[in-house]
Amino acid sequence: MHSDKIQISNLTLVNSPSWNIHPVYSSNIIVQGITILAPVKSPNTDGINPDSCTNMRIEDNYIVSGDDCVAVKSGWDEYGIKYGMPTSHLIIRRLTCISPYSAAIALGSEMSGGIQDVRAEDITAINTESGVRIKTGVGRGGFVKDVYVKGMTLHTMKWVFWMTGNYGSHADTHWDPNALPEIKGINYRDVVAENVSMAARLEGISGDPFTGICMSNLTISMAKKAKKYPWTCTDVYGITSGVQPPPCQLLPDQGPEKTEMCTFPTDSLAIDNIEMQRCSYRLNY
Ligand SMILES: *[C@@H]1O[C@H](CO)[C@@H](O)[C@H](O)[C@H]1NC(C)=O
Ligand SMILES: *[C@@H]1O[C@H](CO)[C@@H](O)[C@H](O)[C@H]1NC(C)=O
Ligand SMILES: *[C@@H]1O[C@H](CO)[C@@H](O)[C@H](O)[C@H]1NC(C)=O
Repeated sequence: MHSDKIQISNLTLVNSPSWNIHPVYSSNIIVQGITILAPVKSPNTDGINPDSCTNMRIEDNYIVSGDDCVAVKSGWDEYGIKYGMPTSHLIIRRLTCISPYSAAIALGSEMSGGIQDVRAEDITAINTESGVRIKTGVGRGGFVKDVYVKGMTLHTMKWVFWMTGNYGSHADTHWDPNALPEIKGINYRDVVAENVSMAARLEGISGDPFTGICMSNLTISMAKKAKKYPWTCTDVYGITSGVQPPPCQLLPDQGPEKTEMCTFPTDSLAIDNIEMQRCSYRLNY
């Protein structure tokens, strides 16, 4: 907690009873080359949880878990709103995830301090419940905005994209029913997925829709026993291009020539220009 310039690299973490790597209220963090192994049926064994952190880079990690491989957080309900410290400027790249009951990348559900500017690239997930999941609900407040995902290779999955606007789970009874989360500017592109039960299950909040959703260049092959409707969408707005199977009506297709329309930032973040320091341990005889 409250740390700056932290590097965690080249470790294997086995059978943690709870979240594995959990930096809170911290900045300038690199987590690289980590293997995390937990039984796939173990509860709450998230891999890496950036929590109210800014400038963080998570790269070249291999995670097998019973919960989300990477779960981005920023405080819970009224406590997160009061503290008001977002997670921002987060890079996730070259992640390999196996998590049959959870997501490769989750945003929330504790997101009350806000989550902004998340850039995920080159994500591989096998036998994982969902690719990217946004979890929030009434009482959370805060925001999840400017999320960019580019390049996912996925195999055997229930939902490639999942947004849940009715995630219950409150810290206590003092949450504010007027604290609505703002979910806006969610960009997904260049995804190939196979053996999928449903392409997307997108559920915003009635009276507080999730907006600015952009999905392009997605090729999703359905499983033999797939659900009848590959997309379900409620209270979400956005656009799509080059998406198979054809998306829901709330995400109208802009035509095949727009497959590069969902932006991925080309500027680099400050954390990207920080070089890893070599860890050394010298024995003095
Ligand atoms: C579409 O996605 C595939 C797979 O990620 C990628 O190889 C291809 O370059 C993308 N096409 C465009 C037009 O970006
Ligand atoms: C496809 O997914 C189903 C679960 O939906 C799984 O039982 C099956 O083994 C998967 N097939 C392949 C070829 O991975
Ligand atoms: C991690 O291990 C690799 C391979 O042994 C090595 O090249 C690299 O320098 C190590 N990283 C750090 C930060 O020590």
